[in-house]
Amino acid sequence: MKIAIVTANQWKKKQGGDLLVLFAGEKKGRIEPDKRGELLASLPASASGDFSGKKSELLEIYPVAESGEASFAKRVAFVGLGGSGQRKQDAACRELFRCAGGDIAALCKKRKIARLAVLLPSYAGIKQTVFVESFIEGILLGLYRFDKYKTKKSKEKKAKEYISPQELLFLAEKENAPLKHAAARGERAARAAITARDMANEPGNSWTPRHFAEFGQKLGRHKRVSCTVLERKELERLKMGGILGVNQGSAEEPKLVIVDYCPQNHDRTILFVGKGLTFDSGGISLKPGAGMMDMKYDMCGGAAVISAMTAIIDERPAVRVVCVVPSTDNMPGGSALKPGDVITHYGGITAEIENTDAEGRLILADALAYGIEQYKPDAVIDLATLTGAVIIGLGHHYVGTLSNNDRLCSAVMAAAAKAGEKQWRLPLDELYRKQIESQVADIKNTGGRPAGTITAAEYLHKFVGKTPWVHLDIAGTAWNYTEKSYIAKGASGVGTRTLIEFIRAMAC
Ligand code: BES
Ligand code: MN
Ligand code: ZN
Repeated sequence: MKIAIVTANQWKKKQGGDLLVLFAGEKKGRIEPDKRGELLASLPASASGDFSGKKSELLEIYPVAESGEASFAKRVAFVGLGGSGQRKQDAACRELFRCAGGDIAALCKKRKIARLAVLLPSYAGIKQTVFVESFIEGILLGLYRFDKYKTKKSKEKKAKEYISPQELLFLAEKENAPLKHAAARGERAARAAITARDMANEPGNSWTPRHFAEFGQKLGRHKRVSCTVLERKELERLKMGGILGVNQGSAEEPKLVIVDYCPQNHDRTILFVGKGLTFDSGGISLKPGAGMMDMKYDMCGGAAVISAMTAIIDERPAVRVVCVVPSTDNMPGGSALKPGDVITHYGGITAEIENTDAEGRLILADALAYGIEQYKPDAVIDLATLTGAVIIGLGHHYVGTLSNNDRLCSAVMAAAAKAGEKQWRLPLDELYRKQIESQVADIKNTGGRPAGTITAAEYLHKFVGKTPWVHLDIAGTAWNYTEKSYIAKGASGVGTRTLIEFIRAMAC
């Protein structure tokens, strides 16, 4: 899709398009005229009762010659932005525009729109750069679908007339650099999240640890980026008993994939770690059959961190960003880890395995300990579909956030709010550590039913120590349940844009 900023005159010269989108605010149950005033001239009086500019309201009209500017398009859609009260906060504005983008994506699919134009809304309080950035995120994410395994192409594809809009034009008073940059920023973030979705939507037999390695190696070809893949031999030499233990029952080779973006001038290093468990059967503590197939998504943390790197590498911030993805599947083979076994993590901490299904913390522990020792980061953020308990606590709308550092935690949560990826902080506390004390080893890998998300985080905490760290449990938000216009069923790509926003905020 070609995205550009043009003036209304340029657009008219190109003979309009298939759909023009106009935005309207709401005031006391009625349409609030925008600063230009003229846009409302194109709304037929007969329709005004059906549309009052309320948030996510949508009205389609077919303009006639008298419709002014709007008559240059075959169709016009009015989209409600709601009252000015709903647009007071930056994060709320962004989410509003993103959702509008998602709504327009759905309309484009329905009407097979090839040439789309959007008149930038001009209301007090709306930053047009923010609008462009967020709207692009929403429409690109909203258009996303994963259908590569459908052999019968959908009718519309067969007809070849339409896949998604081929052109998205923003009609501005004048083209300017800030708007262009905003468009590029939105597109990069959306494309990164789409990359994460593509990885995660792949079934467990098509996205294996090797695929993470190959993706990382491709990133490694960029300037100032290197990729290291630790194979079984190195993992053994380094005594990474967590990753090796989880991999014991598997036919796939385990990998630890490291992507290091290292700019010449940097004074800080950030470490991302993502759980890259390509299928979680539970191992010997086998999961029940119902819903097990969803465990192909157990690599969403890994997908988010490595996909965020694509945007970060493009944006070249003056911050070193290292991304580590420990990857294996968790299978119940004859040589698989058993309940009662004791493993030794990288760095020497021993753990008793009470339940082989609590495998995420085992692979993350090695990756965190190794990443911190090797790269001495100023801050660490890990993402993992770690516990079913986070779904019990927060459902499918908030990421569970746990941290040993208030400042870092606030920064991550601010980035998440900007990205529209809600987070709720849960406590860490020594008191919970009792639950993971073992009779025979330093710790055990489960903490019983109470506070399962916290005890899992406390397990990781052991390997992080005092390094500022934020743990994001994305088990509830990584797929299927987050119903938003720009998030379809399947993988959501959650976390990817939060990480990108976090680094953007750091870099300026
Ligand atoms: N990958 C799962 C967590 C999960 C469950 C993610 C449901 C998404 C939906 C993780 O490896 C796991 O199995 N956790 C166990 C831990 C328990 C055995 C202590 C869980 O949450 O049940
Ligand atoms: Mn598990
Ligand atoms: Zn898992």
